[in-house]
Amino acid sequence: MQAASPTQSTSHSVSYNRADWQRGYRSLKQEFDYWIDAVTGEIPTALKGTLFRNGPGLLDVNGQRIHHPFDGDGMICAVTFDRGTAHFRNRYVQTEGYRAEQQAGKILYRGVFGTDKPGGWLANALDLKLKNIANTNVIYWGGKLLALWEAAEPYRLDPATLETLGLEDLDGLLPAGAPFSAHPRIDPASLQDGGQAVLVNFAIKTGLSSTITLYEFTPDGKPVRQYAHSVPGFAFIHDFVITPRYAIFFQNPVSFNPVPFLLGLRSAGECITFRAQQLTQIIVVDRQQPRATPRILEAKAGFVFHHANAFERGDELVIDSVCYADLPAVDPEGDFRQTNFAALAPGQLWRFVLNLKTGIVQQQLLDSRCCEFPTVHPQWVGREYRYVYLAAAHAPQGNAPHQAIVKWDLQTGDRDLWSAAPRGYVSEPVFVPHPRGNAEDDGWLLTLVFDAARDASDLVILDAADLSQPVAQLHLKHHVPYGLHGSFTSQCFLS
Ligand code: CO
Repeated sequence: MQAASPTQSTSHSVSYNRADWQRGYRSLKQEFDYWIDAVTGEIPTALKGTLFRNGPGLLDVNGQRIHHPFDGDGMICAVTFDRGTAHFRNRYVQTEGYRAEQQAGKILYRGVFGTDKPGGWLANALDLKLKNIANTNVIYWGGKLLALWEAAEPYRLDPATLETLGLEDLDGLLPAGAPFSAHPRIDPASLQDGGQAVLVNFAIKTGLSSTITLYEFTPDGKPVRQYAHSVPGFAFIHDFVITPRYAIFFQNPVSFNPVPFLLGLRSAGECITFRAQQLTQIIVVDRQQPRATPRILEAKAGFVFHHANAFERGDELVIDSVCYADLPAVDPEGDFRQTNFAALAPGQLWRFVLNLKTGIVQQQLLDSRCCEFPTVHPQWVGREYRYVYLAAAHAPQGNAPHQAIVKWDLQTGDRDLWSAAPRGYVSEPVFVPHPRGNAEDDGWLLTLVFDAARDASDLVILDAADLSQPVAQLHLKHHVPYGLHGSFTSQCFLS
């Protein structure tokens, strides 16, 4: 574990500088395509394949600021590793909205998180057409590279050039404009499919009640199961978890007031109110009996964006998730660049144990450190597991930007940490298994780090078995705005 320097992590000092952190939220307008030649350390020759990442690339449209980074147009980065070398490429997803706004040179669409068209409430009233910004995740499955945004269908891209090929209806499965979550899970050995891997994803349609549709696809992209369930109430569900038998959803305790949205006074995100005193509904869907009514259990879980993993243990279901004690409303007048971290509740790692016989849910705080973006070894998805990796704050207490990657040993309680503080800001770690490895931590963690000292980003490779110092730091020629999610495939697409 890296020792904290004396200037950091005391109660009277902070590990970061707000002006540094803000610089990571600038648009990257240029599209690059180059071999990375500035490398500290050595790229492992066994690391072969492509890291795809997605996130908001534009934080403004022609100088007009967007209100929240979640409203920023999706930009895909691809880092290809082959024989100890690495290649970088980034391209914008050429969504209908992106193209129209770039052509017009101004904001034309309402954003879900508060970006309004200019013109006040009259211009925004009754404009329910949301802009599919394709900015949340990117996956390669069934021979297709898909940029995902949960409220609409994916955009398909060419994996070699990142050229946008168009909206993807998954061979007719998705009707036009249908939602498709940005958080698919891969069951590494599906019981119902002869032990082959399947990709499981969901879609939410919500209002006074909500419909959760589940889709399962074999590695060739063929849909093998599709089933839908209705649950009471408005649902804001961003992520889910799976086990061999179950798919589990946390229906966050929020309410939605559509009136200001319909009148154009507020964006959809600004009409959601967190209800701290209400219980979270935990929806348990049986993947093997898709027609069975889901079980609903209750817990005081706070707000959950992301889950780490889940597994079955006798009559119990164990679920590890990042929870927030409170979720502040999106402030119509606020500027996310001025976020007062100290005033906000941090995300923290919790364990929930559901007893499916008694319906009792027990919960336990695993780590009080501020964290997000949990990830695990892909072969342990849905299985009893030992290690979880997260982006985390440098200091063990308090809320702060993510500057560290932490590995949490759930068996021993040990923690390993690599910190990029004071001038580095990390993103979601992606776990890549060593091709000849067997152990759960035999592999690498890949994370993009904005280095304010260089005013540019590094792709940092960590050894998942020992985070003490990076295996390699690949110095990009430019910054990459703070991103959301990504994935790795062992395929290389370079010509
Ligand atoms: Co997410």
